[in-house]
Amino acid sequence: MLMLSNPDSSQAFNYPTIIQGGMGAGVSNWRLARAVAERGQLGVVSGTALDTVLIRRLQDGDPDGHMRRALAAFPQPEMVRPILDAWFVPGGKPADAPYKLKPLPTAEMLREDEALLIVANFVEVYLAKEGHAGMVGINLLEKIQLPTLPSLFGAMLAGVDVVIMGGGIPLGIPGALDKMARLEPVEMRLNVVTSDRDRVYSTSFHPGTHMRAAQDVLSRPLFFAVIASDVLAKTLVKKANGRVDGFIIEHHNAGGHNAPPRRGDAYGERDVCSVEKVAGLGLPFWLAGGCASPDQVAAARALGARGVQIGTAFACCEESGILETIKAEIIGMHRAGKLDVITDFKASPTGYPFKRVEVEANGRRDACRACDLGYLRTIYAKDDGTLGYRCPAGPRKPFLSKGGTPEEAEGKHCLCNGLLATIGLGQTRRGIPVAPLVTWGEDMGFLDPILGTDRSSYTAGEVLDYLLPGGCCVAS
Ligand SMILES: Cc1cc2nc3c(=O)[nH]c(=O)nc-3n(C[C@H](O)[C@H](O)[C@H](O)COP(=O)(O)O)c2cc1C
Repeated sequence: MLMLSNPDSSQAFNYPTIIQGGMGAGVSNWRLARAVAERGQLGVVSGTALDTVLIRRLQDGDPDGHMRRALAAFPQPEMVRPILDAWFVPGGKPADAPYKLKPLPTAEMLREDEALLIVANFVEVYLAKEGHAGMVGINLLEKIQLPTLPSLFGAMLAGVDVVIMGGGIPLGIPGALDKMARLEPVEMRLNVVTSDRDRVYSTSFHPGTHMRAAQDVLSRPLFFAVIASDVLAKTLVKKANGRVDGFIIEHHNAGGHNAPPRRGDAYGERDVCSVEKVAGLGLPFWLAGGCASPDQVAAARALGARGVQIGTAFACCEESGILETIKAEIIGMHRAGKLDVITDFKASPTGYPFKRVEVEANGRRDACRACDLGYLRTIYAKDDGTLGYRCPAGPRKPFLSKGGTPEEAEGKHCLCNGLLATIGLGQTRRGIPVAPLVTWGEDMGFLDPILGTDRSSYTAGEVLDYLLPGGCCVAS
């Protein structure tokens, strides 16, 4: 790999051939990102809902002590103590007792909720970076705006190398990273549903209200945007409020959320991004979606990409956060020729298409629509100009009374609760666990070459061995 220097952080940055894609919530956790980063490729933690992930791990008693070890490394212990007091349950809560909830995110976030986000994102990146000199990134979705600034700041405190953002048009993030690196206050425009087109709503964050003045200036991480169109890449280069450092061009066969098709509910030729045009912008880029084979890696590089971003192959490996029962079931369904990954155009409250796979794991479960996490709520302006919040996947009556429409609510799933159940941190209501909701990519071509016919699990290292035969990264 070619060593390039990141001008703002003056640290050397090795452009990786493989980016292990960010997978929320908690699928690409610190263990997975660390396993990849240790091997010299880019390990990426998901920053989605990390505040809830941390407090649930603490309520489970933090059995291996990893959370408390990372918390002890946070530079300001006075921010950690209230978190431990409020959420740590020695020995863990009873399995059938519900998790205690934090307040739902709003634009007027309390200082303690910001502090929890900062600390939680620090913890995940700190653990992913612990004990090696490899690179670690954090992935956030542009659509989930309210936790973004404190989350990024927490990740930066732990020395995150790259910020990767998809699910929207993150024009305001590169500049926010510049400012937070200098510990300056930041303001970010919010996407608000409003009839008053002239009114701009924003959220603000001041690192100085949390950190003592003596804190050093931080490294500014590189910023990579996940895109599905060359027009978006060009817009970001021209209009973002700071430096964009690279692109991940994601095909619509990728797992998680996908960019909506240009027309209707089906993808066509016009939905394929022009790699040539993105290459013409002169920034490093990676291809994502169905790229998990050595041939695809070589093909991507022949097109000028530095390499590829891989999701599903890592989601299915031992280190990922997905429950073992679910991974085993998916592998079994694939082997039986019964794995059916559907692009659900309605399920996600974000309005974006979402890849989903039905699993039987864990029997009777509650698929209740209670919106008690609220990460994917739509922000809307009330008649008096103040902000309100509604989730199309939440209870119907309040959603409609807040101006939502029956069409918006149709077919929606509670992603927040379903995704947390998939990683073993699901809520229990009246003794019944919430049903998991599993997102998955279309391409499973990697499985047989890695696993053969007789084994049932594999590691992140084996994914890298398969993708990079010869044992190492190809020179950039
Ligand atoms: C389980 C799962 C969760 C994902 N979650 C996210 C996410 O939170 N943010 C994001 O930008 N991409 C997400 N992705 C997309 C991956 O980062 C990656 O780009 C994609 O999976 C690549 O395609 P592949 O699955 O065919 O390798 C997710 C993918 C999977 C499989």
